[in-house]
Amino acid sequence: MTNAPVRCKAVVLISGSGSNLQAFIDQVNAGLLPLDIALVISNKADAFGLERAARAGIKTQVIDHKAYASRDHFDHALQQAIDTVSPDLVILAGFMRILTADFVNHYRDRLINIHPSLLPKYPGTNTHQRALDAGDAWHGASIHFVVPEVDAGPIILQGRLKIRSDDSADSLQQRIHKIEHQLYPLAARWFAEQRLSHKNGKVLLDGETSDQQLQTFDL
Ligand code: GRF
Repeated sequence: MTNAPVRCKAVVLISGSGSNLQAFIDQVNAGLLPLDIALVISNKADAFGLERAARAGIKTQVIDHKAYASRDHFDHALQQAIDTVSPDLVILAGFMRILTADFVNHYRDRLINIHPSLLPKYPGTNTHQRALDAGDAWHGASIHFVVPEVDAGPIILQGRLKIRSDDSADSLQQRIHKIEHQLYPLAARWFAEQRLSHKNGKVLLDGETSDQQLQTFDL
């Protein structure tokens, strides 16, 4: 019998390209991230992230929200699918559905999300254009524990870059993705190593209350 190290079991929820999922897969394969991605679930059958997962030998499942009469029914089906693998961590990686409070509370303290803005600025969608329209100097991404209020949970890590005068929403999105692909696996690594936790609405890193960690990128 081998004594394989205990890995953190994760389920990743996606809706689209899955470039963040790919960043997790790459770091796991490189031996840098002690995560066992047991299942990838998409609410869209044509999400490219499903192909990325299948290529990496990860089990996938499609749960189409349109097949359910209500958000409650969909979230219940989602929860049942996730719980078949009893994950330690549920990772939202471009999952474009608002989740019910019941779902969020079920995974309290083990549900994380990445959002493409410097929260609390620009919750919701269209964040890159909104940062440009506001004439912001900085834009970025935030990783946070999920609470029932959308894009409002306590922040684990943020990465920012300077907006250039010739930036478009597309160019910003591309550069922000590079930040996401570095920071999201890092946050997952902290969690997997049991250095990161969420207690009573606070983010703890190595047992200490962690002030929103902000990293500046020159991209
Ligand atoms: C990312 O920008 C993330 O911040 C947002 O959705 C996007 C997902 O991109 N929540 P991908 O599917 O991981 O490429």
